[in-house]
Amino acid sequence: MKEELTTIRQTSLKEIEAVTSESELYQVKSRYLGRSGTITQIVKNLKNIPAEERSTIGKEANDLKKDLTAAIDNALQNIKQSKKLEHIEKPSIDVTLPGRKQLLGNKHPITLVTDQITQVFTTLGFEIVEGPEIELDFFNFEALNIPKDHPARDMHDTFYVTEEVMLRTHTSPVQIRTMQKTKPPLKIICPGKVYRCDSDVSHTPMFHQIEGLMVDTNITFGDLKGLLTIFIHTIFDENTALRFRPSFFPFTEPSAEVDIQCVMCRGAGCRVCSGTGWIEILGCGLVNPKVFANAGYNPDEITGLAFGLGVERTAMLKYGVNDIRLFFENDYRFLSQF
Ligand code: PHE
Repeated sequence: MKEELTTIRQTSLKEIEAVTSESELYQVKSRYLGRSGTITQIVKNLKNIPAEERSTIGKEANDLKKDLTAAIDNALQNIKQSKKLEHIEKPSIDVTLPGRKQLLGNKHPITLVTDQITQVFTTLGFEIVEGPEIELDFFNFEALNIPKDHPARDMHDTFYVTEEVMLRTHTSPVQIRTMQKTKPPLKIICPGKVYRCDSDVSHTPMFHQIEGLMVDTNITFGDLKGLLTIFIHTIFDENTALRFRPSFFPFTEPSAEVDIQCVMCRGAGCRVCSGTGWIEILGCGLVNPKVFANAGYNPDEITGLAFGLGVERTAMLKYGVNDIRLFFENDYRFLSQF
């Protein structure tokens, strides 16, 4: 009997060691310690063992029972622990899940309209040029014939960095920078961000402009009218009426503002056009000879046309958006409509 117990001890401990799952472990447990398990049976049958052996065998059997229970508990802990680790370490990918549709991004409406506008002009032979957003007083104002005491400075609510440095209030300084570097003739389009201290439903402190400049000999107001008519008819539609309304800019002479027939009411008069049937869309004119002189060109030999338009304004009219701030809120429900 004694040897039998020793053999049971050896094999059962080996079996417990070899177990790899909880269910296997419970099988081993019931085989030895269950109601009809080997050890349970031995303990039950102790009464049949000769009296002189009974106490040693009994003690041995009980020790074995205790040791096996401890070994099983220990093995159970180990299995649980390694299961936990496995769960943490294994990437939890469920390959049976249906695929997830990738959302395709789209261009921001401001980028879209900028692209459309620049494309109209690049098709006509204009080159795209960019300039700095932090600008010197000379390029933003002085060289554009807006001296320090000039009332036209009031039109621009400027963010100053120092007295001589500012966030550019328009893209017109790129005209000067380009003319300083390049000999005429010139056909450029300059898209970019500009800054003005202004904020309401139709103004944001940062917005986008596109500047156009064409320099050559014998450029007339007729060229300006033709160019801008092509532009308006391409961006809106061929039936959009436009008019040139006399205006003033220190850097162009003569100057005009271009109005288009209201896109909402087709000229009948509505809230968007304040009942006039017309909406202002851009500023333009023939380059003031003083600007040529400031940029190092000879005003007696050279003529030019220039225009500047707001991209947000164009996009609002083109798509019927009534609050400029929607462009900058980054709400996907708005942006995905373009
Ligand atoms: N720079 C002017 C503005 O921001 C627009 C403009 C550009 C007007 C070029 C005439 C010529 O209001």
